[in-house]
Amino acid sequence: MNTKFSDLSSNSIETTNGKTDFFYEDVIHGLQANPKRLDSKYFYDAAGDKLFREIMNCPEYYLTNAELEIFSEKTAELVAAINSHGAGFDLIELGAGDAMKSTYLLNELLKQQIDFRYVPIDISANVIKNLNHNLPQVLPKLKITGLNGEYFEMLAQATSLSNKRKVVLFLGSNIGNMPIHEATEFCKNLRNHLSEGDYVLVGMDLKKNPKTILSAYNDRGGITKRFNLNLLERINNELNADFLISQFDHYATYDPESGACKSYLISLEDQTVQIGEKQVHFAKNEHIFMEISQKFSFGQIEELARNSGFKLMNQLFDSKKWFTDVIWSAG
Ligand code: TRP
Repeated sequence: MNTKFSDLSSNSIETTNGKTDFFYEDVIHGLQANPKRLDSKYFYDAAGDKLFREIMNCPEYYLTNAELEIFSEKTAELVAAINSHGAGFDLIELGAGDAMKSTYLLNELLKQQIDFRYVPIDISANVIKNLNHNLPQVLPKLKITGLNGEYFEMLAQATSLSNKRKVVLFLGSNIGNMPIHEATEFCKNLRNHLSEGDYVLVGMDLKKNPKTILSAYNDRGGITKRFNLNLLERINNELNADFLISQFDHYATYDPESGACKSYLISLEDQTVQIGEKQVHFAKNEHIFMEISQKFSFGQIEELARNSGFKLMNQLFDSKKWFTDVIWSAG
């Protein structure tokens, strides 16, 4: 999505799949709201993808390693859990990223000669281009159909590819990047796109020592800060804006009661920013809400499954019990 603002006929960005993306409208709408917010789905341009990969390599960011441990050391258990019907299936992954974790699963499925097609879905055109190109080189027998776009539009497309059973992966505690009521709506929507007996495998970060959690979103190297600030740079580049990046700082909080970890950008000065045709004023110390990363208790996970029409089939943990992958059946 390298389209420049000047190329746009209707303030919307055409993605490689021909769908439009209301980047400008969403930014203006979010920054005119009170309190101000930006939509985290726009974090992932090429620079954002790269910074996100750096976050995953930060020593404080335990989530990736915890889930990677499940995928690399409990691979056979995962396969047994998702292949319990024995027939072939389509393995759809929402927000596939670099598919590092799923590659362990794909490898084991191929090794066991299980009949499946891998259908990664990602909002980043870059990510899908790389997966379609790179994965078959590592896993030559893999059948892959990568789809670039919004989750549910692409999920509808993915479910019409075949009438095989579906297994949907939603890893990395991405479910936590929605407030719980939205996560419930999301899971209901997911359920409605599936048929009875289809499975979902959802990665969820668990509640733990609050300091461990907060450090993961407030790394010493400042990568998470750069990741958040990159969205302002993206707005500058793509929407003809003049944010002074050094006049904003990153602030993360964790609330052990609710399990909500939230990140904000704070305006360090009283300032006015030009974004395309519009101006937005920021008071000194005013915050922009960027993203939530919800941490779950077992009770919250059960409630989420129950409220959205799924049944718990299986649940795997890393050795520290910091992270869980749950396997739910649509039923
Ligand atoms: N879903 C992961 C998490 O909540 C990854 C993630 C999304 C993330 N946005 C982020 C990590 C922003 C750090 C900062 O942790």
